[in-house]
This record gives sequence, C-alpha cells and structure tokens, in this order.
Amino acid sequence: MTWTEAVVVSHSPATPDIVVIDLAPAAGDGFPAYTAGAHIDVLIAPGLVRQYSLCGPPEGGRYRLAVLDGPSSRGGSQTIHGLRVGDRLRISAPRNRFPLVTARRHLLFAGGIGITPLLAMVRRLEHEGGDYALHYCARSRDRAAFVEELAGNPRVALHFDEGDPGQLLDIARDLGDPQPDTAVYVCGPDGFMDYVLGKAEALGWPPQALHKERFAAAAQPPGAGTGGFTVRLASTGAEYLVPDGSSVLDVLLENGVDAPYSCRQGICGTCVVRVLAGDPDHRDDVLTDDERAEGMFTTCSSRARSPVLELDLNG
Ligand code: FES
Repeated sequence: MTWTEAVVVSHSPATPDIVVIDLAPAAGDGFPAYTAGAHIDVLIAPGLVRQYSLCGPPEGGRYRLAVLDGPSSRGGSQTIHGLRVGDRLRISAPRNRFPLVTARRHLLFAGGIGITPLLAMVRRLEHEGGDYALHYCARSRDRAAFVEELAGNPRVALHFDEGDPGQLLDIARDLGDPQPDTAVYVCGPDGFMDYVLGKAEALGWPPQALHKERFAAAAQPPGAGTGGFTVRLASTGAEYLVPDGSSVLDVLLENGVDAPYSCRQGICGTCVVRVLAGDPDHRDDVLTDDERAEGMFTTCSSRARSPVLELDLNG
C-alpha cells in the first residue's frame, strides 16, 4: 500500500454523531480525481486501516469524508472525530468497488451513514442527467447528514424512523418489481442491507442488478469452519498449510510473502488474487458472481473446499 500524506483543512459536525472532514494534500496541488462510489483507506494507527467513501464534489482536488462515531462504530471513528484542522494523516489513492454501472435507471437505497457513496452518485447522475431515485433512511432528520442538500430534490425520498408511518421505506412500493435495465445500489448498516437486499431478492430482482457496499463484513469469520487446507503459490511452487482459525492472508504474511491487504474483512478488494486450481469457498462481501466465476478470490476472508488451492498472486 502506498500512503499519501493529507492535511485536514475542514472539520465540522454534520449531526451530533457525524463529522465531515475535508482533506488536501500535504504537498502538491490536489489529489487525483475519483469516480462516484470510490473510497480511500485511512491509516488510523500502525496496523489499523479503515475505509471511508468519498462524498464531496469530485473536482477541486480535495477529498471529503463523513464519519459516524456511534456505539456500533468500528475502531477508527473516534480518531477521525478527534482530528483538528491542520492535523495530518495518511491515506491511500481512491479505489472504486461500488461504481455506477451502465443502466437506463438507477435506484439508490441509503441507510444512515451509507449515504456517503450514494451522495457522490447522486451528484454524478444529476450532472449527467441520469434517471435515478434515492431513498434515504435514517433514525431522524437531525441524525441524517446532508439532508439540507438533498431535501427539495424531487428524486429524493427521505424516510425517518421517528416520522409519520406513511413516509417509512416500503420496499414493495419504493423498489417494486424487477425492471429491465435498472440498477439497484444499497449501502448502510448490516441490518438495513440485509433487509433491502432480502426484500429485493424476494421481489425477484436478479443478483446482477443489485450492487452493494458494506461497512463491515457480514460474511462468516474468516478463520472459521472448513478445517485446514493447503495453499500453493503458482509463482514459486511453495505450499503453506492454512489451519482453522487463520486466513490465507495470515499464513502468507507469516511466511514472509508480500501479499497486499487493507481491511482484512473481505470488504475492500485490496487482497484479491486469482485461483488457478481448487475449489474456493468465497466468504467476502466485495466480489460479484462474475468476478468469482473469473477466479478472483480474497485471501483475507475466503477459504477452500478442496484440500489444495493454487493461487496466482499477481492475478
Ligand atoms: S483486505 Fe480487504 S477484501 Fe481482503
């Protein structure tokens, strides 16, 4: 991972538990451009990396993050909340595992802080004149970031838990039956994601129409389950035993193999390699069915059903 030094140029509360921070490069004119749905890795502390979606206007060379610090937040949010203007931190280049796809219509479903990548998509679709609708669910108006920017947009529906029952999200009404050439995007806490995706599936939406980004892995713990297996590296022929309780990535790193990684939860895609032989047991939340069918594999979270898995680390 290559890190870039960034400086905090703005840090302000959006709600009682969400801060919005703007980052500029510590050296040079501006950060590289990014596409809607992209995120950056932030090095919170040695060995602790977190992913945050970019939610500001993509032009201008700055990066904007909105970060929730709540009871269910993973470590790192408190550090971001505690930053001050002028503080420095290290970030990665943007990567996008949740891009807008080519479709006639786009249906966006945000739960809470899951608004961040979808806000960037709304801006992009507005700019392009794309056909879209955003459903933004939050506990209450005062806990929903960016409401001022979105309220009044006729393509945006706000759904607050504490509001009138008639305005609550109704998937049968707000998503409805599968439509041709329509892409659905879902981002938010696990419970929200599981609810929307489960309902979409029940309505008959095909998996390839559903695009999702999670903040934390919903998959089974990486080490649990299938017993040990052997991983073989095509480049060197070296073989390593991956025991129960360890991931492929753990074993590669323990043996001095220079394997890339970031989230270690199967949600960012940094560790993806290619399977050349064997039967992978995919336990990530980042690869599409097509990518899995092409042999892509996350070393941090996925395992093997076969005794041996042969990998191309340069995949
Ligand atoms: S390190 Fe993020 S998916 Fe594996």
